[in-house]
Amino acid sequence: MRASIILTLSLTVVSAVHDYAKRDCSHDNCLRAFIGSSVDAANFCATYTTTVLTESTVLKYPIKGVNRMLVPFSYTAHYFYFHFGISIKQHLIKLFSLQLNVLYSQIGPAVAACTAISLDGISVPTNSSINLASLKANSIVTFAGETTFAFTNSSTFNPMTFGGKNVTITSVPGAVIDGNGQAYWDGQGSNGGVPKPDHFIVVNKMTAGSVIENLHIRNWPTHLFSISSCSNLTMRNMLLDNSAGDAPNAISGGLPAAHNSDGFDVSTTDDSTIHDNTVYNQDDCVAITSGNNITVDNMYCSGGHGLSIGSVGGKSNNNVTNILVSKSIFSSLSKTDTLEFSNSIVVNSQNGARIKSNYNTTGFISNITYSNISLSGISIYGIDVQQDYLNGGPTGIPSNGVIIQNLLFQDITGTAVVGAEDYYILCGDGSCSNIVFGGVDITGGTVPSTCNYPPSGCPGL
Ligand SMILES: *[C@@H]1O[C@H](CO)[C@@H](O)[C@H](O)[C@H]1NC(C)=O
Ligand SMILES: *[C@@H]1O[C@H](CO)[C@@H](O)[C@H](O)[C@H]1NC(C)=O
Ligand SMILES: *[C@@H]1O[C@H](CO)[C@@H](O)[C@H](O)[C@H]1NC(C)=O
Ligand SMILES: *[C@@H]1O[C@H](CO)[C@@H](O)[C@H](O)[C@H]1NC(C)=O
Ligand SMILES: *[C@@H]1O[C@H](CO)[C@@H](O)[C@H](O)[C@H]1NC(C)=O
Ligand SMILES: *[C@@H]1O[C@H](CO)[C@@H](O)[C@H](O)[C@H]1NC(C)=O
Ligand SMILES: *[C@@H]1O[C@H](CO)[C@@H](O)[C@H](O)[C@H]1NC(C)=O
Ligand SMILES: *[C@@H]1O[C@H](CO)[C@@H](O)[C@H](O)[C@H]1NC(C)=O
Ligand SMILES: *[C@@H]1O[C@H](CO)[C@@H](O)[C@H](O)[C@H]1NC(C)=O
Repeated sequence: MRASIILTLSLTVVSAVHDYAKRDCSHDNCLRAFIGSSVDAANFCATYTTTVLTESTVLKYPIKGVNRMLVPFSYTAHYFYFHFGISIKQHLIKLFSLQLNVLYSQIGPAVAACTAISLDGISVPTNSSINLASLKANSIVTFAGETTFAFTNSSTFNPMTFGGKNVTITSVPGAVIDGNGQAYWDGQGSNGGVPKPDHFIVVNKMTAGSVIENLHIRNWPTHLFSISSCSNLTMRNMLLDNSAGDAPNAISGGLPAAHNSDGFDVSTTDDSTIHDNTVYNQDDCVAITSGNNITVDNMYCSGGHGLSIGSVGGKSNNNVTNILVSKSIFSSLSKTDTLEFSNSIVVNSQNGARIKSNYNTTGFISNITYSNISLSGISIYGIDVQQDYLNGGPTGIPSNGVIIQNLLFQDITGTAVVGAEDYYILCGDGSCSNIVFGGVDITGGTVPSTCNYPPSGCPGL
């Protein structure tokens, strides 16, 4: 049954393709025609784009004068991916939903004109980025195949940018986005060495029900996502795998080749959720430096520095309020170890739950809950609140300009390793209030825990 459907559609498409080829519609001619009439383009895109992409199989038809023809099928929907072929639309009006499948050079026009865009096997040249910063409202961008990036010798460009209202960025099963980290990694991260993009993906002003989901991203150069000025954004079901950067390379001086490889760096973002993501990296899994009403749920984080609030202070926005971090697991297992997990896990991490404010700065941290977190193999602090932070090393002397109030650590259990500290709380003079522990039990660290707040001291002591 399914085979016969595919056969029918294939024949139809091939005949349409034949007409198309006969018109000798070369790429540039078609592109000029397409963008030459923005009204046509807009109508076209509005009429013929659709959103569902499941179980699709892509057949490729190399045609003279046309760089790429793709005809994907799925059990539930049929698509004709074509190449700015507006001249054939009448043939297909009743049979197909159309979606632009673009080459790298066509991303700009497609983003400007269309609301359903497929990026299949895009190779991004040097000095170039995938710019999805100004997507049309309600757009859906779907990655397929392998997206690759040539090395760019700069620390001031962003390989990918995402933004828009109620937009979805997703991928089909099996798609991979590879950041070419191996060309950048030198053990130094953002502290020097080879020029690297500060963040691999800049998410800015993505709002109003926008979603980033189902992406499999690997080998990003330094930090992965910068999420700023977003609201009502969901980031879910992603596999973010920088584990290839765990091993030293020829220029990393014995250190892990990848460094400062934060997963999600969040600032000035409201009403958003990060859930059901798996992160293998070498720095913070999630770091929230400012924002309100953010939930981080069901995370599995391995190899990094934990789920962090901060560092807060000294930035343009220094308020972190109403944050829930729940059902997450951190442990010492590396990617190749086997571990059963159902909800969230944090593995091989320096810290579990961590809140840090910058020394001698001001700010406001309020209503933070960490709940149902499982830790193992924590190498520095199980639970950490410190107000003496400086990039380059904590001062050991807390300052009190950042107010910390209403922290709840609920049901956080697990183990730290030799040389680690189960609990470390270093508040400034009078700047912490209402820090509550319930069902907290971290053991195994050999450095004695120290908590200068609450007055009752560290949990269990
Ligand atoms: C990339 O940009 C740099 C700096 O602007 C320039 O020197 C280099 O030639 C560019 N490379 C290519 C292939 O355009
Ligand atoms: C958001 O975009 C989706 C398409 O992804 C659309 O179905 C939905 O109606 C949009 N929601 C609003 C409120 O416009
Ligand atoms: C990057 O550019 C710098 C000059 O800005 C140059 O010294 C260095 O060799 C370049 N690296 C590569 C890999 O091209
Ligand atoms: C999020 O966006 C969706 C779709 O635009 C909308 O229906 C919903 O009300 C928004 N939620 C919030 C909290 O703004
Ligand atoms: C908090 O954000 C969620 C979305 O993550 C939204 O549904 C909810 O309405 C927001 N709550 C408030 C009080 O704005
Ligand atoms: C930060 O919080 C303080 C204290 O509640 C408030 O006065 C200030 O307006 C807030 N700033 C932002 C950017 O939300
Ligand atoms: C706590 O998280 C674990 C997985 O880490 C999950 O199995 C369990 O249902 C969660 N408990 C609650 C109360 O959410
Ligand atoms: C703290 O900041 C104030 C104001 O910027 C400055 O005068 C003071 O020297 C700083 N103190 C330390 C120990 O850095
Ligand atoms: C903290 O949470 C309480 C209860 O949900 C709420 O009333 C209060 O406004 C929140 N504080 C801040 C600073 O958002």
